[in-house]
Amino acid sequence: SLKGLDLRAEIDRLRKERNAVILAHYYQKPEIQDLADFVGDSLDLSRKAAATDADVIAFCGVRFMAETAKVLSPEKIVVLPDMDAGCSLEDSCPPEQFAAFREQHPDHIALTYINCSVEVKALSDIIVTSSSAEKILAQIPESQPIIFGPDKHLGGYLARKTGRDMLLWPGVCIVHEAFSETELLKLKAQHPDAPVAAHPECPSYIIDHADYVGSTSGILQYAKDMEGDTLIVATEPHIIHQMDKAVPEKNFIGAPGADGNCNCNICPYMALNTMEKLYLALRDLEPRIEIEEELRLKAKQSLDKMLEMAS
Ligand code: 13P
Ligand code: SF4
Repeated sequence: SLKGLDLRAEIDRLRKERNAVILAHYYQKPEIQDLADFVGDSLDLSRKAAATDADVIAFCGVRFMAETAKVLSPEKIVVLPDMDAGCSLEDSCPPEQFAAFREQHPDHIALTYINCSVEVKALSDIIVTSSSAEKILAQIPESQPIIFGPDKHLGGYLARKTGRDMLLWPGVCIVHEAFSETELLKLKAQHPDAPVAAHPECPSYIIDHADYVGSTSGILQYAKDMEGDTLIVATEPHIIHQMDKAVPEKNFIGAPGADGNCNCNICPYMALNTMEKLYLALRDLEPRIEIEEELRLKAKQSLDKMLEMAS
């Protein structure tokens, strides 16, 4: 039994013993963010995973992020505290269907959001994250037709912002879909001077009310830089932990769901990682991400393109 164990002390002991680095996404529980060696958005975390000289990467995020770490650092042991930590965007895009979609549009290249399986990455030409998508899109010739998947909201946002017409895969993030426009408008009425920062995974009816749209690290930077004292945050609310730490004098309010609070916008997949499971993952070096080499090399091509074009 883990009862009576000082989990934080045990995790610290094991990370040294294993020469492990603990990477965490901003949507992780505060206690996990606080013990991580590095906290970041999807692009930052991919770069860290590619560059680390640790022997073990303990990835506190979701499976597609840990898989990305393994693709980029195959000689490392990559553990994910809970293998069920998936993503609704990944689930919306089965590789066979994506392959068939590509075959129907042979003249299109596939620009694909990193929130997908390693199989879909292997079927794609270039991977993007929300922080790198615009920069990467700008480097693709105007005449080149594009399939964008699996997030139709991010794809729609990019299409509106850049004027590029892209064929969109119909996937959504269930977390960002849960925001309510009506409740957001009520909240804005209560805080008329507060800007809204939104993640591009939000539907357009939320983005339309945003003063800033960007990735988790972009939203965090906006929270630090903005002049006012109150910000409405339309993304997974665990990121507010980093905002409270960085600028404790400001007031951060999670955008509401239909029930008027922001608890329905907690990512159920991210929430599967706990201190107990992280401790066990470091102790047992399980569950481990393993990827068949041919598949890994194919997925690496589209991820390497991202790292190259985003830099
Ligand atoms: P970013 O941290 O890259 O903005 O991604 C957000 C997200 O939904 C990860 O699943
Ligand atoms: Fe996937 Fe949405 Fe959770 Fe991110 S927040 S991991 S996109 S379900």
